[in-house]
Amino acid sequence: MAATSQRRHVLSIADLDRPDLERILDLTGSFAEVSQRRIPRVPALRGKTVVWLFYEDSTRTRLSFEAAAKQLSADTVNFSVGSSAVNKGESVRDTVQTIEAMGIDAIVVRHSCAGVPHRVADWIDASVINAGDGRHEHPTQALLDLYTARTHLGGLDGARVAIVGDIVNSRVARSDVLAFTAMGAEVTLVAPRPLLPSSLEGWPVTVTHDFDSVLGDIDICYLLRMQLEREAGASVPSLREFRAEYGLHAARADRLKDGALIMHPGPMNRGVEIDGDVADRPNAVIAEQVANGVAVRMAVLFLLLGSGLDLAEDHTVAAA
Ligand code: CP
Repeated sequence: MAATSQRRHVLSIADLDRPDLERILDLTGSFAEVSQRRIPRVPALRGKTVVWLFYEDSTRTRLSFEAAAKQLSADTVNFSVGSSAVNKGESVRDTVQTIEAMGIDAIVVRHSCAGVPHRVADWIDASVINAGDGRHEHPTQALLDLYTARTHLGGLDGARVAIVGDIVNSRVARSDVLAFTAMGAEVTLVAPRPLLPSSLEGWPVTVTHDFDSVLGDIDICYLLRMQLEREAGASVPSLREFRAEYGLHAARADRLKDGALIMHPGPMNRGVEIDGDVADRPNAVIAEQVANGVAVRMAVLFLLLGSGLDLAEDHTVAAA
């Protein structure tokens, strides 16, 4: 169980235990229903202000947080790093303290350096949500992945999950390992040695370098993006050879068992870690992951700002 001071923030899946995760997922179900209404809006966060502080590019995370805040009737402030005083050398600390001085309730932070959202949480009183910090964590991605998988599989106890590809550069992998194992799933990492962390001590996973050996056993095949901007391409002989060994192409996808899910956090490199025709199959739930991102982020914002209560409280009724 996380320390009480961490309850104001969502920084890491490591701060959440299974009951916390289940409460967030249950609340997400209530907000998914709100999202499907003709007018998807509830007054839950009227008067609250949320700011986006993205030092790295984003499509899914940023837009879904924005949609989530709007559906909860929160005010939002768009902070564009590229046209801000950051370009004049203003530090992260001065930037967030300046933003807070204008009166905000939560800040959603993405940064290329691991640990920046944690530092921000030390510097300001507003709630901080980690929208991805370097190679460290992406907790709300893991929450939407859990929600999507649970919706299809019914439960995650004993579910077999293969996380495949560029593990070493992936904050999604780290958060998903923590989240899926906390929910009772068994996780296997599938990657060549150069794409694995140098030490996996403490990771509750098994590891294989042979993708074909797990295909018939898994319930979830989770492909990771090859992070070419983080030089992942230099860790493999060529992207063509990586695809041959670790890409989910049609012949491999045909060997997945009935009902097995194909997942990917996006954005995809079609033809590298996943072939285009495989990404468009009915058991590929990639677009559903994106859609569920809105409801998950509504649940997170509501839990942090909506009641002043911590995650241990049951908010299911309040969202209905
Ligand atoms: N999955 C994910 O974080 O996507 P974005 O980089 O588009 O936010």
